[in-house]
Amino acid sequence: MTHALSDHTPRAADRDPDAPSAPHDALAAAFDPDHFRALAAPVVDRLAALLADARAETPSLPVLPWVAPGAQLANWPLALPERPDVARTPAAFDAMLARVLEGSTHLHDPGFVGHQVAPVLPLAALCELVAATLNNGSAVYEMGPVSTAMERHVIRWCCDTAGLPSGSGGVLTSGGTLATLTALLAARQARAGWDTWTHGAHDGPPLAILVSEQAHYCADRAVRIMGWGRDGAIRVPVDADHRMRPDALVAAHDEATARGVRVIGVVASACTTATGAFDPLEAIADICEARGLWLHVDGAHGASFLLGERHRHRLRGIERADSIVWDAHKMLMQPALVTAVLFRDERHGAAAFAQDASYLLADDPADTWWDLASRTFECTKRFMSLKLYATLACYGPALLGEYVTRTADLATRFATMLRDAPDFELAVEPQCNIVVFRHVPRDGTVRDDAALDALQPRLRQRVIEGGRFYPVQTRLDGRTWLRTTLMNPFTTDAHLAALLDAFRAAA
Ligand SMILES: Cc1ncc(COP(=O)(O)O)c(C=O)c1O
Repeated sequence: MTHALSDHTPRAADRDPDAPSAPHDALAAAFDPDHFRALAAPVVDRLAALLADARAETPSLPVLPWVAPGAQLANWPLALPERPDVARTPAAFDAMLARVLEGSTHLHDPGFVGHQVAPVLPLAALCELVAATLNNGSAVYEMGPVSTAMERHVIRWCCDTAGLPSGSGGVLTSGGTLATLTALLAARQARAGWDTWTHGAHDGPPLAILVSEQAHYCADRAVRIMGWGRDGAIRVPVDADHRMRPDALVAAHDEATARGVRVIGVVASACTTATGAFDPLEAIADICEARGLWLHVDGAHGASFLLGERHRHRLRGIERADSIVWDAHKMLMQPALVTAVLFRDERHGAAAFAQDASYLLADDPADTWWDLASRTFECTKRFMSLKLYATLACYGPALLGEYVTRTADLATRFATMLRDAPDFELAVEPQCNIVVFRHVPRDGTVRDDAALDALQPRLRQRVIEGGRFYPVQTRLDGRTWLRTTLMNPFTTDAHLAALLDAFRAAA
């Protein structure tokens, strides 16, 4: 069957490779199925070899092949051929691919302990190839019939997992930052007290939300995009574990209200980016309920811990949220980007982009669930659901639960290791798979706070250049710390002991 489609087209493989392609042939050759096979087969082999290398006792590739940005730019001059040379492309592409793989950061390497980006499940990566080839967006049903149906099921699973009631719903969108803006647009429309979508943000008192001091910048960014300015995100102090303080939340709300600000809601972090702290959702939900505030839970990183039996208690209260953001490209091992933005009442999601005011909460979006463009920022939207749907359908949530549990348990053991080490200091007890610490040399060479702060980034840079590990850093209470997110399920205690030795050697 597949060959029947290509019988009428000139095949790249049949052509004399030295004969230049005529331009009118080149398009047909570029789409030739055999050309596709010639391109694809080495890709799979190379990626399989990359996965194998990452699992080797000593991977041959550095986790982050450090090259200064300017030199990297020089490494990749874009030479444009005068004419398409399709016949030579498989070999040229393969050579390019080899260099891409060599020069990139390797998230499958157990030495990757950096940012909150997942080592991707191979199945999910293959789904990306299928989704990209089909290029079925989901803005209008006809352009993505399967994609739309899969998205509906995936969103239902997310809502059920979070404990949201029937009548809840949402969409998949392009990342946690955009999802947060989507959720806060809905919150604004629901709680501002006037039709902000029609009359703008300034047709009443100044609007604000309350966020923890440790919240991800996406909440502040969303507020500024909505035109509320710097004062639109009011910071609530945190406790010693970097969790939002409920008493401080009440005080901040009272203080803002007294100033004439209309606070429409609270953004609770579950968890924070810097230390992985889970705000006390139940206490915050009580306050929101008593005061008529919208509760938004930023679960971009932490919502996945709902799948870990021993860790889901940290999210108690999430089922009371009005909206939730949940990144699958963080702790569900999916390729970036795929984020679920969920609403306790699905109609609020539709109101976020109420282009037609008559649509506003009047209709039941469940009746038109296939009209995704009306509920998402994106017009052309990627086929995002396939990878998550396939992951759930093929492996079940148990695999994801095992992943989050394994990485969080590893973090607990790493914290013990750090507490036991005389020359390291743990910033705070980890609440999930994020561990923050610093090296404090015991030889007395680093005497004051400023010197200790300056030391950490230098050590980090050296460790990165060593090629075995990729840790990151953060600022906490004005001080500089090293930070690891244990994203890789194959990172072991031995790797982490070696990481500490790498810091010692760098010092
Ligand atoms: C807590 C939290 N919220 C939101 C985001 C933003 O998500 P994204 O990077 O998908 O835009 C991040 C990213 O690290 C995060 O850690």
